[in-house]
Amino acid sequence: MKEDIFIKVDTYLSDLFSLEDDILKKTEQSIRDHKMPEHSISANQGQFLFLLAKMCNAQRIIEIGTLGGYSTIWLGRALHEFGKLTSIEIDPNFAKIAKKNIKNAGLENTVEIITGDALQVLNDIHSNSNEKVDLFFMDADKPNYITYFNWALQHSRKGSLIIADNVIRDGKVLDKNSTDKKVIGVRKYNKMLSKNPYVTTSILQQIGIKDYDGIAISVVN
Ligand code: DHB
Ligand code: MG
Repeated sequence: MKEDIFIKVDTYLSDLFSLEDDILKKTEQSIRDHKMPEHSISANQGQFLFLLAKMCNAQRIIEIGTLGGYSTIWLGRALHEFGKLTSIEIDPNFAKIAKKNIKNAGLENTVEIITGDALQVLNDIHSNSNEKVDLFFMDADKPNYITYFNWALQHSRKGSLIIADNVIRDGKVLDKNSTDKKVIGVRKYNKMLSKNPYVTTSILQQIGIKDYDGIAISVVN
């Protein structure tokens, strides 16, 4: 459902605030050039993530699913001078392209891209450090969202944000008989959030230049 009016307003807003510079445009172009999935967030969604990172004073961010690094650049730019973002990508080809884009954005000292299975990488991080994560953004591997959430909660402080993309999926989230693993994954995730006493959550529907979808934003109590 990509209504013309939603696309026009999304574009009006990103133009009004000049949200996309050459670096972000080139990142999107690299995704098209390499025929990667066009699943990056939009510029307005990037600005929204940037705002959330600022609001929780993020110094330590973890992202699951780097793709070409588009959201990684938005989040990396929101960090403090000594902040650090670890982004985990399972596809080595995507990670290679993302690393180039991160370097082009001048964020190579702030952003670390780790290639591998996110569960394994998170276990390694767990063994090597007990630092708290201020913002955790999951944007890949929807069936494992709850596992990532539990890891994030364990490594959070009061006020940390745990954010999950694509929890509406063009409204397919309504279908309790769905056999789509991603839909099943986000349905379970949303339900878990509705009952979890350790976080307060708001799930927003999102419309615009991207497919109709939504984002779950949880703050740790
Ligand atoms: C899918 C993944 C995404 O991160 C996204 O933003 C849109 C769709 C997907 O796997 O279908
Ligand atoms: Mg996504």
